[in-house]
Amino acid sequence: MEGRLSDLIIRLAGGISQRRMYFDAHPRVAATSREVAGDLASLLRDMQAVSLTVGVYGGRFVRHGRYLVGPSIAGRSLVDFAERLQCGGFTFSLPLTADDLTGFFRLAADRSRRWDSLADARAAFAAAGLGHIALEAPLVEEIDDAAADDDEAGAAAGDFARLVPAYQSMYDAVAGNALLVGSNGAVDVAGAVDAGASLVALAGQGALDVMQFLRYPDYDSYTIGHSVRVAALSTMVARALGWPEDVLCEVAAAGLLHDIGKGRLPSEILFKPGRLDDDERRVIETHPELGVRLLLDNGEDSAVIMSAAWGHHLRHDGGGYPHSRSDHRPGIVAELLHVCDVFEALTARRPYKTSLSPRRAFEFMLRDAASFHPQLLATLVGTVGLYPPGSEVLLGDGRRAVVVAVGADLDRPRLRITAGPHGRAIPRDQQPDLDLAAHPSLEVAELLEADLVPAAG
Ligand SMILES: [Fe+2]
Repeated sequence: MEGRLSDLIIRLAGGISQRRMYFDAHPRVAATSREVAGDLASLLRDMQAVSLTVGVYGGRFVRHGRYLVGPSIAGRSLVDFAERLQCGGFTFSLPLTADDLTGFFRLAADRSRRWDSLADARAAFAAAGLGHIALEAPLVEEIDDAAADDDEAGAAAGDFARLVPAYQSMYDAVAGNALLVGSNGAVDVAGAVDAGASLVALAGQGALDVMQFLRYPDYDSYTIGHSVRVAALSTMVARALGWPEDVLCEVAAAGLLHDIGKGRLPSEILFKPGRLDDDERRVIETHPELGVRLLLDNGEDSAVIMSAAWGHHLRHDGGGYPHSRSDHRPGIVAELLHVCDVFEALTARRPYKTSLSPRRAFEFMLRDAASFHPQLLATLVGTVGLYPPGSEVLLGDGRRAVVVAVGADLDRPRLRITAGPHGRAIPRDQQPDLDLAAHPSLEVAELLEADLVPAAG
């Protein structure tokens, strides 16, 4: 149930981002409003409840006195909305309609709008006819920090304060540029480089932090989350290869900007749910060239950023696109982006497809090994491992653990045990470390689903 709630919060936030790019009657906005209303209704039915409250406290989502870590990062725009409304959360009640959500997204999307008090905000909701969405009074009681530390995603909770601003600045850099490109063809490269620098600063403190970004699903098919994750992966791999700090910042920015040309594609094709026909595919394949044009028109001259935008769909063996008659080879940064782009696409969970585990994704990539620079692929495998840091696993003896680091043997990561064999959570300060390399008889039985958040109550 908590996984579904997390999904829902992230979809609500995705609806806000989407509404910022479009308008009420846009088919994508209408479809999201309908789908989220339907999902909320079915969740309530399954909970045998008529309303659902999600609290916001101290910049995070809260439910039953615990922080919801993942949704608080990926659903940042919804937290921001609650803060502008000066409320302590939202209660969604049946019968919730698609119109309610369209109105909700419309109010949330206007970031310039502020309310002087909760009473003002409630009046605005009433004026907009949002009768099935109530604004809760601010939570006054202290959230028990010890309880938050007890949770199974405690690793993320502890680093939360540093993760949120970095994720947010990257997300804003990609979303902001998508808006700029769509309206007047401008690109804010400096903003992307700044956001890249915040990622690099975070990556310096350990893989665990950055890998958290990989765990959160997003439902924004404008590839915002995709670009953020590709930037995070590329930066981790570049760091593992020992590339210098200033290059890492450019690599991070290159990851954030690599799909910038998609902002110039017709949305009917870019967002088409089904299979593309040959003509549509050819249109999609123009995005690297469009991206480089945009960057050039904006006076950009970073070889790293330009070559990534141009060459991230070129294969190591010379295939891929953009097609070129000369035997032009992609640069090393373009090759790095290509490896990370494919891995992200395979492992991402989207509304229309399931994700592959890292193991399956690597198997898939190795079957087409000629497409990838061998050293870069090997470094990606070694950096992410079969069980990426930050993910949760079930052990053969029934205990649960969080992956702390990739081991020398990719099957045997270093872990922190979070729950005993019967699922009983272990308090954060008593969670033992366990190096699977030292326990040959113990195996990882299962990689748990990526969106798990602390069980409520
Ligand atoms: Fe691309």
